[in-house]
Amino acid sequence: MVTLSTIFIIKSDTINLEKYTIKDLPGSSGRLDVIARCVLAALIRDDSFIEDTQIWTFLGNYGAFIFDTNKLDYQTFPKNELKLAKAMVELIQRNSPDSLRNVPIKIATIIDIINELMQKKYTIYILEERGKDFLRELQFIPSIKRAFVIGNQSGDFVSSEEICRFNLSNLSFGPKSYLASSIIRLIQIYLERKK
Ligand SMILES: C[S@@+](CC[C@H](N)C(=O)[O-])C[C@H]1O[C@@H](n2cnc3c(N)ncnc32)[C@H](O)[C@@H]1O
Repeated sequence: MVTLSTIFIIKSDTINLEKYTIKDLPGSSGRLDVIARCVLAALIRDDSFIEDTQIWTFLGNYGAFIFDTNKLDYQTFPKNELKLAKAMVELIQRNSPDSLRNVPIKIATIIDIINELMQKKYTIYILEERGKDFLRELQFIPSIKRAFVIGNQSGDFVSSEEICRFNLSNLSFGPKSYLASSIIRLIQIYLERKK
């Protein structure tokens, strides 16, 4: 794994494509729309990719999909939720479209990756409604090798025993619950300003 400036990590065990139809993306995919929005929020600013950024999407039995702006082509990358979700369905069904051919699929658990990142001295944060104030902690967030774990629509995983065992720093944007993609967008905006 090359040294990256920023890694986002999201896990969703609700993804299920058995009855998938693009006509009802949220209802027929187990909320793949949430994941697609998170990928777009992590990788894209205005009209370009954010450099040196990865988002790992752990989608249950389908595996882990790694979107890396150092490997993807901005020109061909699907830039809206529906187009990306459609392309991701093909990717998940192992029939990757050209636009996502550089998205490796990894059969690994999120716990494996967190352990790997800790060994590589990444600073890992959990985003949760209860936690230290993000804006106050921003000055201490390193400029490279930082990773952010975000919950899916239910957010169960980020407060699970599995994750709590790591005793990682929890960061919060206040008690109100926002969409995962909005939280990722906020993080990217503040990290960009911090540069
Ligand atoms: C839609 S929220 C999850 C559901 C929410 N926990 C609930 O009980 O309704 C998606 C994820 O975004 C992040 N998130 C949402 N609001 C946040 C906040 N105010 N501060 C930090 N992270 C937040 C968390 O990682 C959360 O798991």
